[in-house]
Amino acid sequence: MPDSKARTPVLELRSHLSVPPSEVFPVLWGELASSLLQRGWRIGSEPGGKLRSAAKRASGRTDGRLERWNPPFEAEVVWNDGDGKGPAPRLSVRCEAEGSGTAVVVEHRGGSGWRGTPREEQELGWLATEVVAPLLLAIAPDRLLEWSDDRWGRRPSGPSSQANYREPIYHLPGFHAILEGLALRKDDVLLEVGCGGGALLKRALATGCRAAAVDHSADMLKVASGQNARALADGRLRLRYGDAGALPFPGERFTCAVMSGVFPWLPDPEGALREVFRTLRPGGRFVAWTGTPKMYGTPAAGPKRTGGPRLYADRALARFARAAGFSDVRIDHPDLRPVAKAVGVPRATRFLFAPEYGTLLWARRGRAASRRSTPKAPGRSRPRGRRERM
Ligand SMILES: C[S@@+](CC[C@H](N)C(=O)[O-])C[C@H]1O[C@@H](n2cnc3c(N)ncnc32)[C@H](O)[C@@H]1O
Repeated sequence: MPDSKARTPVLELRSHLSVPPSEVFPVLWGELASSLLQRGWRIGSEPGGKLRSAAKRASGRTDGRLERWNPPFEAEVVWNDGDGKGPAPRLSVRCEAEGSGTAVVVEHRGGSGWRGTPREEQELGWLATEVVAPLLLAIAPDRLLEWSDDRWGRRPSGPSSQANYREPIYHLPGFHAILEGLALRKDDVLLEVGCGGGALLKRALATGCRAAAVDHSADMLKVASGQNARALADGRLRLRYGDAGALPFPGERFTCAVMSGVFPWLPDPEGALREVFRTLRPGGRFVAWTGTPKMYGTPAAGPKRTGGPRLYADRALARFARAAGFSDVRIDHPDLRPVAKAVGVPRATRFLFAPEYGTLLWARRGRAASRRSTPKAPGRSRPRGRRERM
């Protein structure tokens, strides 16, 4: 129980890692900053750095500041004092060298927002309801699985996702099928929804076309900007932070649009397709690459579970596209095993590129002003496979 006279910490958490502080601190701080950003908060990463909510940004006022900034060992954030009646609440994050590893120590002190009942009782109530209860739920097996789904697929973040989506080997066969079918030209203006690390954009831009892309992961946009820096500088590419359900682009802007590996994570796939339809010019073509329900239970999707990736049957995908306004809706199941082999997918997992595991959804916005017939379906790399008009 905290001792109010001695001002011992209200909360102390320790976590032990086997890597040194120089490796722990930047990741820990980077993750903290991007997690705050997702919640509408910014924190500086320099001496005196500001803590500020979106609400305060316009006024220039701050909510708190970094009182200590001594990477890779320590950072301490102090909130502005609410009512001035007691010490302002502060949180310090320390990385203490421990042998060849690190002890991460998180410590909260102070706080003047307690009212009414005795402070000890309030601190205990706060600890139980605001810290321990959420922690208990955070470690529930389903929540941990959901967290790793988010981190790996729904909104990838962290160093391993950044490294993976720079050149996502398991998505390269899909990229191949998409690009072969789209047959991009210099006068195309491409939209990618959920661009991840920008590896498909890089290949698309090599054709000379222009492009724009949206993603709701700040980490992915960072990777996508890094590997398409030239196209960004030349004004051939625009990258936007945003949601598939409300695309930050005006109507009838693009000649074609793509989505690779995004369908499984969309809460409202039909709504996202309506947005793609809105931003396509008449005659604009659309293609999406996704997995079939047969993928459940494989290493690519894991078991079917609530909150996990959603894999749709052909009919459901075609229904979404039609309901969103598309015509010329078609489903392909190409055999991409030869491509998977060529790009270096390990032999043991190449079966995931057989026709029954992958779907290409093709569609077009109307026919008016179309300068091209139905998009060319992947052919040369598809020695076997199924195609259906839906
Ligand atoms: C599995 S990753 C695929 C990334 C990339 N398209 C590829 O094939 O490598 C899914 C991507 O879609 C993005 N995404 C998922 N849902 C989204 C949404 N509602 N709005 C914007 N982006 C979304 C994720 O942040 C992530 O970058």
